[in-house]
Amino acid sequence: MRIGITGIHGLIGSKIAPLLAKKHTLIPLSKREGFDLLNEKSVLQGIEQNDLHYVLHLAAYTNVDEAEKQKALLLESEAWKINVLGARYVAQATSRKNIKLIHVSTDMVFGKDEKDFFDEKSTPAPVNFYGLTKYEGEKEAQKNNSSSAIVRIAYPYTFSAEKKDYVRVFLGYLKENKSFSSVADCFYTPTYIEDIAISIDAIIENDITGIIHSTSGEKLSGFEIAQIIAEKFKFDKNLVSKTTRKEFFKDRAPRAYNTALENTVLNKYGVKLHTLNETLSFMPKDLLKNE
Ligand SMILES: NC(=O)c1ccc[n+]([C@@H]2O[C@H](COP(=O)([O-])OP(=O)(O)OC[C@H]3O[C@@H](n4cnc5c(N)ncnc54)[C@H](OP(=O)(O)O)[C@@H]3O)[C@@H](O)[C@H]2O)c1
Repeated sequence: MRIGITGIHGLIGSKIAPLLAKKHTLIPLSKREGFDLLNEKSVLQGIEQNDLHYVLHLAAYTNVDEAEKQKALLLESEAWKINVLGARYVAQATSRKNIKLIHVSTDMVFGKDEKDFFDEKSTPAPVNFYGLTKYEGEKEAQKNNSSSAIVRIAYPYTFSAEKKDYVRVFLGYLKENKSFSSVADCFYTPTYIEDIAISIDAIIENDITGIIHSTSGEKLSGFEIAQIIAEKFKFDKNLVSKTTRKEFFKDRAPRAYNTALENTVLNKYGVKLHTLNETLSFMPKDLLKNE
């Protein structure tokens, strides 16, 4: 397939693009090619001129705490313009050319309602402005492109991106024998970034549309994640203490108690993503050495 991909230079895009490129032809739609979600004309041009079968829309305004500061601006905020209006432009342009759309979203569309797990039929109710813009973006994708797939991912981590995510941050403290605290009252379903490429490919192969959750399905708090890492590699578990989200996210955007996602759609297709314990088993061993 010829797939136009937005956000290819971001955390997720940079990791999954090389994997998808083994099977598909990827056409970058990024600011470097003059594709700007703030500029409708550039979105139309990028999508219409490349003879695409699919657009994988990853690009977004992703800074949760900065987005919160823009809340009062609502429609005039950069977060809204990129995540909602940008999503609309992408959906309209793809629909006009009969191009299928895979729109990537987040577990942060949930959180206000108390539930053990949120499945694809659960109604979103975000607790922060970023989550609201992502939810509104999902609606734009669905309203404007009837062959869209909304793929919700959560708490991505990997072992080799430039930016250190929580898994390598925790590992760093443990290796150096440093005490640290991790949030114990905030639950989510971590996702190994490379697995997102497997779900995207399955969505294309099986022509799946609608809402799709793509996570490990394993509900963990940050504290539990740190404990699992310590246990797996025999570090001192007592280095990890509990903190609360009230304390940790003080003066930042509100975070939910629980946004754990259940993958009912991917499960039906036999697609299973790795749990944290599984991925830690194949983590490169040199990451355990002190830098
Ligand atoms: N990371 C997470 O924790 C997480 C969790 C759940 C869901 N998600 C979702 O996953 C997707 C990818 O996230 P990520 O973590 O890879 O994001 P990221 O690292 O922050 O990268 C964002 C990407 O969006 C592009 N972008 C931003 N503004 C743009 C604009 N005006 N026009 C065109 N491109 C623009 C950036 O392009 P440049 O590189 O050219 O600036 C960058 O490639 C997003 O939809 C996000 O909501 C992320």
